Amino acid sequence: MPDAPFDAFRYAHAHRRQVVWMSQNTNHLVPPQIVREAVDEALRERRYEGYPYAPGDPELLELVQRDLGIAGQAPFLTGGGTESLYMIARALLASGDSVIASDPSYLIIHKFIELAGARTKNLDIYMPPFRLTADRIQEAIEPSTKMILLIDPLNPLGAGYPRAEVKAIAEIAHDHHLLLLNDVTYRDFSYEPTLAAEFAPEQTLTVWSVSKNCGLAGLRIGGFSAPTELRARVAKYNTNDLGVNILAQVAALAAMRTKSQWIHEVVRQTRANYERVVEVATSVEGITVPVHPSWANMTILDIAATGLSPEALQEELLLHHGVFVRSGNYLSPTHGSKFVRVSFSNPPGDLDRFATAFPAAVQQLRARAPAPSAA
Ligand SMILES: Cc1ncc(COP(=O)(O)O)c(C=O)c1O
Repeated sequence: MPDAPFDAFRYAHAHRRQVVWMSQNTNHLVPPQIVREAVDEALRERRYEGYPYAPGDPELLELVQRDLGIAGQAPFLTGGGTESLYMIARALLASGDSVIASDPSYLIIHKFIELAGARTKNLDIYMPPFRLTADRIQEAIEPSTKMILLIDPLNPLGAGYPRAEVKAIAEIAHDHHLLLLNDVTYRDFSYEPTLAAEFAPEQTLTVWSVSKNCGLAGLRIGGFSAPTELRARVAKYNTNDLGVNILAQVAALAAMRTKSQWIHEVVRQTRANYERVVEVATSVEGITVPVHPSWANMTILDIAATGLSPEALQEELLLHHGVFVRSGNYLSPTHGSKFVRVSFSNPPGDLDRFATAFPAAVQQLRARAPAPSAA
């Protein structure tokens, strides 16, 4: 039997105590006692024996609504923002519809769009300003266009949208009667966090998450906010009829109650880490960091000039240095072979490991690469 291909996630999970996790934009900087105390108490009370209140903890919903600041839109709770994205695609798109999106992108959303029978029109954004612009969106509109996908800040590029651009894109959605799917998973890291719902409230569905800002990715809780009629149409596709995981709600509540006390430090450290990643990466010949600064907690390192493959670099870093970064191929059909994505809401010790590992891994791969043959 041929060897199974190397499964980086399987390896990384099996060695999780030794691995520095810089591969999934997760957040390892939130003071852990906040969530630990709340979840410990819920475990002691054995709250897991009963179902949660199905619509979600009222205080949690209230805190999320206040945090987003969208008047009159009660948040809908789902198993991560991911479930909201799936429900929205299923409920609002159909065969023949198209969605203006980008490449690179967070491609799971594109998959959900395709499952609904629709297709994405992917605008290439692997060039400055590394995001969509209102002008390009305007040009891309066709009779079949039903929705614009606005991920702000963007995974994987880390670029974000200035307020004026969000406004201009929202106005296009409004003027052309298009839906606007505004995924704001990384909003707390942005330099200009702006919700499209402010400018096009009737068109916009806002997908939010506590995975990245609150460091709760493993608990799988997030949701969406939308005007009443759209909310009702999407809610029909809810599979969590009995409510979202009770421990996830307890943890999210504890995090949201205290967020204002620690989020500034999380963002400060994240931005300092970005500078460190740039310094380390660009000290290696052939590596560039195309997007400056990062408006999220990730960036891409373009390795095309090294001739190395992102998969090889991912594997080398993981197996030999215990540093888990992500190769680009799952994020871009066109450009994925040129970059690795590195996330950095991590403690400084993780960055120390990266600083030693990254140049060493590139050097080791280069030393092993066959010499170019003479013509
Ligand atoms: C743009 C974007 N949206 C949504 C998600 C998923 O978030 P959640 O963990 O809330 O399902 C991610 C996760 O990486 C993401 O990058």
